[in-house]
Amino acid sequence: MQEQIQTISKEFQSALTKIKDVKEMTALKQEFLGKKGSVSSLMSQLKDLEPETRKAIGGQLHALRQEIESELNSFRQQLERNQVNEKLQASWEDPSSRGSLFDQGVSEAGLHPMSQILNEVLEIFTSMGFEVLDGPHIEDDFHNFTALNIPDSHPARDLQDTFWFEDGKHLLRTHTSGLQIRGMKDRTPPVKFIGPGQVFRCERTDQWHDFSFFQLEGLLIDKGISVAHLLYFAKTLFEEIFRSEVEIRTRPSYFPFVEPGLEIDMRRDGGKWVEMLGSGMIHPRVLTHMGVDPDEYSGFAFGLGLDRLLLMRYGVEDIRHLRSGDLRFVKQFATYKAGGATC
Ligand code: PHE
Repeated sequence: MQEQIQTISKEFQSALTKIKDVKEMTALKQEFLGKKGSVSSLMSQLKDLEPETRKAIGGQLHALRQEIESELNSFRQQLERNQVNEKLQASWEDPSSRGSLFDQGVSEAGLHPMSQILNEVLEIFTSMGFEVLDGPHIEDDFHNFTALNIPDSHPARDLQDTFWFEDGKHLLRTHTSGLQIRGMKDRTPPVKFIGPGQVFRCERTDQWHDFSFFQLEGLLIDKGISVAHLLYFAKTLFEEIFRSEVEIRTRPSYFPFVEPGLEIDMRRDGGKWVEMLGSGMIHPRVLTHMGVDPDEYSGFAFGLGLDRLLLMRYGVEDIRHLRSGDLRFVKQFATYKAGGATC
């Protein structure tokens, strides 16, 4: 029987090199492992053997069965990989081989409206003397949460649904507030900077919410800064952006890194109130993390959502257009001039 086992193994190996697809693989499996297959028929003879031999041969048969199963599995995986590769090969194309996009009749689309808004907002802030900082999309737990007074197991971590990496330590930043900490590493007050950028939340999308959006973080620290400065600053900012008079109102809000926390809304011409800023006075504990003495200095921080600003300004009805990559959407903004009637 031992010989038979070896023969079956060899037969299987040679048959394996000849099969080409799932159908042949299934037939092969049937031939060896099926009810009437060669391995099974040897199994059924086991009962006639002496107990000692039965144990030994039984073990070998079992090993043979496993070998066949695992080789068939690898074959199937390889088959699937080949299929994917074939598909990729068939659809892959070197885009540069077609010449420039303009040669192919693609007309100029213009700057994405988000870039247009961002350019304008950056201009406003830099003219007010703010520095512009950049930070990583992949953040660590410390900068996104802990240093902002959101320790491990703090319920506020659930306020923002997070895309975590498998290591449990890194994440796609849920807000730009980590830049407050990063920016203060090599700066001392008086200081004012902004940090615009993409943020990510693991949320269901709809007309007003996307899993990714554009925020602009701002921070100002100096001696004697109070809520009054924050309110004056917010009003001036909106009036610059909308180039018209605006009213603002505040609502109390909770963000662990500010105290008090304020939501600032605005409206134009007595129209609808729109939520514009999450903001507040930087929490003394966060100032301490930044190496700033809270008895000597105070400051405010805010997070401005640029997507909402964009939707309002241009009357875009669905936030998901912004990241659709659809040129038909972008083209509509090609002729937009700052200060135009749509503003
Ligand atoms: N990071 C907050 C958010 O994403 C906004 C915020 C920034 C609030 C700064 C206060 C101060 O909702």
